[in-house]
Amino acid sequence: MEDLKFLNQAIPDISDSRRRFIGLAAGGMALSAFDAWGAASTHGAGMSLSPEPSAAFNPDVELELTAAHGTQQLLPGAPTRLWQFTGKVLKGNPNALTTLPGSSFPVIRVRNQQRVRIFFKNELPEESIVHWHGLHIVQKMDGHPMYAIAPGQRFVYEFVVDNRAGTYWFHPHPHGRTGVQVYRGLTGLFIVDDDEDERAGLPSGEFERAWVLQDRRFDAGNQIVYSGNPMDMMMGFTGDRILVNGRPDHVERVAATAYRVRLLNGSNSRFYKLAWADGRPLTVIGADGGLLERPVDKPYVMLAPAERVELWLDFSSEKLGTERVLRSLSFSGGTMGMGMGMGPGMRGNGGLANGAEFDVLKVRVDRSGAKARPLPTRLSSISWPRIEEAVNRNAPRTIRLGMGMGMGMGMGMGMGGTTLNDRTFDMTGVAQDEIVRLGTTEVWEFVNVSGPMSHPMHVHNLQFRVIERLQDRRMASVYDTMRAGLVDEGWKDVVIVMPGERVRVLMRFTDYTGLYLYHCHILEHEDSGMMRNYQVQS
Ligand code: C2O
Ligand code: CU
Ligand code: CU
Repeated sequence: MEDLKFLNQAIPDISDSRRRFIGLAAGGMALSAFDAWGAASTHGAGMSLSPEPSAAFNPDVELELTAAHGTQQLLPGAPTRLWQFTGKVLKGNPNALTTLPGSSFPVIRVRNQQRVRIFFKNELPEESIVHWHGLHIVQKMDGHPMYAIAPGQRFVYEFVVDNRAGTYWFHPHPHGRTGVQVYRGLTGLFIVDDDEDERAGLPSGEFERAWVLQDRRFDAGNQIVYSGNPMDMMMGFTGDRILVNGRPDHVERVAATAYRVRLLNGSNSRFYKLAWADGRPLTVIGADGGLLERPVDKPYVMLAPAERVELWLDFSSEKLGTERVLRSLSFSGGTMGMGMGMGPGMRGNGGLANGAEFDVLKVRVDRSGAKARPLPTRLSSISWPRIEEAVNRNAPRTIRLGMGMGMGMGMGMGMGGTTLNDRTFDMTGVAQDEIVRLGTTEVWEFVNVSGPMSHPMHVHNLQFRVIERLQDRRMASVYDTMRAGLVDEGWKDVVIVMPGERVRVLMRFTDYTGLYLYHCHILEHEDSGMMRNYQVQS
């Protein structure tokens, strides 16, 4: 990738000519564009598009997945009430659904091109739907909030896994309630395997681990606290306890050998700047969409909400009893920081601001291990889309990320449009300039004009390539706290857009038509309307 470019110019003012909207759902108008996939529901209708399995679909793997109340002993004293996914395998490989050791998180593990059926049962007291984050998937199976089902209902997912090997994940996606449902505990990993990944010969079995990073606030009775007050919605909700795989004070016991570790940032809004406390570099081998072409060492790794990274950690030369601490280092331009004129008193009761420094976990080398195989210099081959293929290479589709805080509750967020707060979420709505053609490659440019916050921008249904970061020179001191940790070398479905930055990504729209989402993955921003549909049209 070419070097980062600095723009001398300021970000232009938001004064495009007024854009037209089509397909506003509020009046039930303009639905004809969506007839092809039969959607006509709005939020809360619980349309149960797929209540029954289809006889024509013969799955390789059939699972049951239930979202329900549960409890976990997380802290000394009272158990903590959570919402949890539980599940079981009904047909196929019994290891297609396991539980992440020590946690309540399910891990679905399948191979590329397998046919999967999942009976999702909603036993929560409110509507929900499951989204398979990162999967290239037929629109009806993507877990769009328009398909949210009511308590007691079920949704039958049937799809062909169509992703290269990688660490994907799943979480609820009902409109306006994603943040609180994920926060209460609804998170799972969706790992895809394939031949190419296996050929890399990376550590596997017990030498492969996964760490889901989250933060929570607990009250005196050990119950998790979530507040949707305007400041938390604006800045993103952060907790002051760091959980790894659902538990505080995580210690990972390892042998003196090499490990493949998959990390997911499953936090609502916290960014991590991961680094070993002793300063040695991290060896990155994978990103959101699977293995990189070759390993790359970084002094630290930035991991925004919903991002994944895979690391190769070699403890072969450690003495038994050695402990190594993985920390999150300080940075600016997260959800707190410069420019907002906010003192510590404005941090809510979280106490641990985004960008503050803290320990994430401890690794303890407690037994000897086999000599590690050397890490291959070539991990995978990727056929990248090229800028020359893009139908709009001279005029990127621009998505402006703005945030405005009015007085009191008057907070508005939106993307694109003529003013910062012009566009918010509309269940089945899509604007004229949000329609793309099936079979094309496009450049999208996310422009962060929201002030001092970074936004992790996510696009459903595909993996993209980060091709360029055009940066506002005035923000260089902020970028310097994060840029060496950005993993732009691999397939991505979430990209950090730092303050004042214009990040260009290349994406191909293949196989499936219909409405898909793009949004900020700070869940409080998503829930506040920093989310839109785009439509793939044939
Ligand atoms: Cu992980 Cu639309 O989200
Ligand atoms: Cu997603
Ligand atoms: Cu955001």
